[in-house]
Amino acid sequence: MCGIVGYIGKRDVAPLLLEGLARLEYRGYDSAGIVVNSPKAGALKMVKAKGRVRDLEARVPKRFAGTTGIAHTRWATHGAPSDVNSHPHLDPENKVAVVHNGIVDNAAELRAKLEAEGVVFASETDTEVITHLIARSQADTLEEKVREAVKAIDGTYGIAVMHADFTDRIVVARNGSPVILGIGEKEMLVASDVAALIAHTRQVVTLNDGEMATLKADDFRTYTTSGTTTNATPETVEWEAASYDMGGHDTYMHKEISEQPDAVDRVLRGRIDDRFNTVHLGGLNLDPREARGIRRVKILGCGTSYHAGLIGAGLIEGMARIPADAEPASEFRYRNPVVDPDTLYIAVSQSGETYDVLAAVQELKRKGARVLGVVNVVGSAIAREADGGVYVHAGPEVCVVSTKCFTNTVVAFALLAVHLGRIRDLSVTDGKRIIEGLRKLPAQIQEILDGEEDIKKLAAEFAEAKSMMFIGRVRGYPVALEASLKLKEISYIHAEAYPASELKHGPLALIEPSLPTVAIVPDDDLLEKNRAALEEIKARSGRILAVAHREQEKADHTIVVPKNEDELDPILMGIPLQLLAYHTALAMGRDIDKPRNLAKSVTVE
Ligand code: G6P
Repeated sequence: MCGIVGYIGKRDVAPLLLEGLARLEYRGYDSAGIVVNSPKAGALKMVKAKGRVRDLEARVPKRFAGTTGIAHTRWATHGAPSDVNSHPHLDPENKVAVVHNGIVDNAAELRAKLEAEGVVFASETDTEVITHLIARSQADTLEEKVREAVKAIDGTYGIAVMHADFTDRIVVARNGSPVILGIGEKEMLVASDVAALIAHTRQVVTLNDGEMATLKADDFRTYTTSGTTTNATPETVEWEAASYDMGGHDTYMHKEISEQPDAVDRVLRGRIDDRFNTVHLGGLNLDPREARGIRRVKILGCGTSYHAGLIGAGLIEGMARIPADAEPASEFRYRNPVVDPDTLYIAVSQSGETYDVLAAVQELKRKGARVLGVVNVVGSAIAREADGGVYVHAGPEVCVVSTKCFTNTVVAFALLAVHLGRIRDLSVTDGKRIIEGLRKLPAQIQEILDGEEDIKKLAAEFAEAKSMMFIGRVRGYPVALEASLKLKEISYIHAEAYPASELKHGPLALIEPSLPTVAIVPDDDLLEKNRAALEEIKARSGRILAVAHREQEKADHTIVVPKNEDELDPILMGIPLQLLAYHTALAMGRDIDKPRNLAKSVTVE
């Protein structure tokens, strides 16, 4: 959603910040803005624009020099997307500039108070409150002014502040919204996402909630909002700057689908223990005795991660024989759930930032629950908040819709299921069988990707559909859910997913030649049941595309995928449907990497 990038050093700052904003584009936004300054110039220079970074770029004047600057991409929460509501927000004297991610909960109250004191607001945003609080502070230092302001606000924030009277520094603060410092040679950067930093430095410091920092060109320091100095040792980001490039593909989605064999190889690497036919997960922080004491597993996530959690629940219940289920984190939070000390809670999130998931984790921790994270972004908020967890090592995912992270998350769940299973009732033989199956996945995924041309031909046919049905049974049902989500997200074709067994309880009424059905038909103990569903559809003249391990005669088309162990089949059966959604959306001319109305990471409620 919103993105921040800032720089202080010797370089011409505007092009650098615009490039940083472009790196944040994938997160989704509706407007952008930039403020620059130089040590000698007293006044801040600002440009803002509704729309994309290129719209902002087009407005930046030729003479826009400066060596310090902050910039922002906004996703509207308070006030519609417009030039004036874009960040940065300046005070009337053009002295203070603020960019802000998050939401100020007491903005209305503070606004009324400031207005009563005669302050005139330029925008409808909650952020402008912070600007005025800083501008009106009587404190001597910028740090103290910012500290007073953040103490007055309730809510979440990642902010970066410049002040025309303190041109040698940028002051930043974090509460619930990521702020990452980039430590360079005689230059410092700040961003809300490493994507905007790593072209310049891979040395980073991630601020904790309640922490602030002062960045000067050749120095930085961190401290709490109460002023106590904190220890910040820079860490090296593993991800390469090149992983954010398109690498010869036309879209990030295509690149990320293609990367799956390597990504799966990475999540497995170093984790398999052939001696005991089990899996080591170094960050779990759960000893075997504790693992034996778990009586239930509850998995929480949103969107695609929730679907990965549904497959994960099946894997854990099947292999570890612990009752397990998954629930959207947002629903869980608001139904005042019973929090049980013997339940292991698992939060799933690619970004590690999704607000609903983070809030569920915080609520669970407050109630004394044990929470693990299954997360892609190392050091992200959910990873930090959890008691332990598994990183999914998919590498950066830029396309708004998730593909490789979904697959890697499911593989991470399979690893966790083997780990828990082998501590409990999963036999050596079954442990070995699953591990061998896991090792086959990268090559089998590649085999599916090699069939892309055939899937592309099928997609041309489906691009004409107004609506599509996806069905699957037990393990196949979450695959159907995810495939239907993927299709609707990027093609905007209406799609529904149903358990195949539920067809006759309602959705069968929809079946007719113009409503194609995609059916997940693995060669497992439910094969005959699934075939019966195909019969039901065929009898109503429905068109069928089956994803199966062998040709299905009732289907109009079958995509044949390689067979793995029954438990791991869902991982493979989802892959051709990513390509189907991709090529359908491509045939329809959609903006695949940035579907309308969606954001990569939803950091607000
Ligand atoms: C947004 C994205 C989805 C994603 C969901 C959860 O809604 O558009 O693609 O699945 O957030 O994101 P997370 O980072 O928590 O996995």
